[in-house]
Amino acid sequence: MKLRLLSIAVVAACLVACGPKDYTVHVKTPARPAGQQDVVSLSADPIETVRIGFIGLGMRGGSAVKRYTHMPGVEIKAICDMEEKQVSRSQKTLAKAGLPEAAEYCGEGAWKQLCEREDIDLVYVCTDWASHAEIGVYAMEHGKHVAIEVPAATSLEEIWALINTSEHTRRHCMQLENCCYDFFEMSALAAAQAGAFGEIIHAEGAYCHNLDPYWSRYWHSWRLDFNQQHKGDVYPTHGLGPVCQVLGIHRGDRMTTLVAMDTDPFNGPRHCKARGGQGEGFANGDETSTLIRTEKGKTILIEHDVMTPRPYSRMYQLVGTDGYAAKYPLHQVCLREDALGNLEYDKLGGEKVYSKEEADSVLAQYPIPILTPELEATAKEVGGHGGMDFIMDYRLIYCLRNGLPLDMDVYDLAEWCCLGELGAISIANGNAPVEVPDFTRGAWDKLDGFSYAFAK
Ligand SMILES: NC(=O)c1ccc[n+]([C@@H]2O[C@H](COP(=O)([O-])OP(=O)(O)OC[C@H]3O[C@@H](n4cnc5c(N)ncnc54)[C@H](O)[C@@H]3O)[C@@H](O)[C@H]2O)c1
Repeated sequence: MKLRLLSIAVVAACLVACGPKDYTVHVKTPARPAGQQDVVSLSADPIETVRIGFIGLGMRGGSAVKRYTHMPGVEIKAICDMEEKQVSRSQKTLAKAGLPEAAEYCGEGAWKQLCEREDIDLVYVCTDWASHAEIGVYAMEHGKHVAIEVPAATSLEEIWALINTSEHTRRHCMQLENCCYDFFEMSALAAAQAGAFGEIIHAEGAYCHNLDPYWSRYWHSWRLDFNQQHKGDVYPTHGLGPVCQVLGIHRGDRMTTLVAMDTDPFNGPRHCKARGGQGEGFANGDETSTLIRTEKGKTILIEHDVMTPRPYSRMYQLVGTDGYAAKYPLHQVCLREDALGNLEYDKLGGEKVYSKEEADSVLAQYPIPILTPELEATAKEVGGHGGMDFIMDYRLIYCLRNGLPLDMDVYDLAEWCCLGELGAISIANGNAPVEVPDFTRGAWDKLDGFSYAFAK
């Protein structure tokens, strides 16, 4: 007993003398190239009719072209894919909508010619993950704004290349994070910003989606291959994007540290073998969890699971000092004044939870600022994940046409994509805390919370 007390005293004395040990893995933040400034609130000259070139016309790109046939104020000038059949499929979409044929680009490297055209304002990228950043950088270097599917970057090197190029060229670089435009997320954001849940102190997001039916449908099996080769949360943006908007990340707060932990890959290798691959050395755990802490003392939990039959979930849970909102697995709202509806001593879960209908009527008190009845009706009719894809596209084009800052900038892209490589670093270091760089390089508290820009 004496010995035990003595050793506790020695450890305590050491802590006082040396301070707690810092286990954080630090990553390098490259200096901002001389003469460049940040692009927080970047605006560019208004573009009356936005001329677009699409690169990547597979499952996602093909449906994007279709959505844009319903978009006012745009011209689809050029389309590009590795495969001839995808190009002709999109030409048929245009013809069916009564629109002129677009210029066609097909095959390896053809995307560069599309980016080099003089008559394009926006390059819209829906290729697989490996080519996103290279295309984004090249498009901006050729004077184009660029919108890139998720995740727009897969490494810190790619992230910094996109940031540096956007800052240098003053071109917009937006990640196409459609989940920020789903109706529940937009309503809960409006309610949270109005203080309905008190101060939001913790949030959860996820991408749980059993991809069994899809693995074989991706071009050259790119998605399973990526999971085979990479650890960390390789698809974090659907979970992280909407909650970062609520927390005002790089708009008054910032992510400072993360820790990641994953399971072994149990199902991943089986999927590989089932498709003729080796399955050996499969990197990505079936389940990856990343816990993030912010400068203002908030936390975020993000999960990734594309390998098990766990039901589809993006989680989207907001925990506030005075309330709670959740989209998955149950659509719920709790507010403090009637939080404890059932005070029976031994009954757990006695909190008053609003039913889906009640939750919707609570949220309906906080109108979504960007949603007009006409936009909602068109979005639901055109479709795309229930309408959110169209709203995202609509906002992108509206802001470009009016010369406004976009809803999502290159720093959002960076923050939402960095979980891949930073999580892999954490896992490789025994789940150590890893520093999250300030991708704005000093501009993270210039703004006070997330807001949408509107034309005057
Ligand atoms: N936001 C969402 O809800 C959502 C949903 C699905 C997919 N996605 C994202 O969309 C992107 C595409 O996914 P997908 O499901 O359409 O995959 P896909 O395999 O169906 O399509 C990819 C297409 O890109 C083309 N391509 C690849 N490299 C190219 C290059 N260098 N030049 C021209 N074309 C090239 C391929 O030929 C293929 O047609 C991915 O980033 C994915 O994560 C997002």
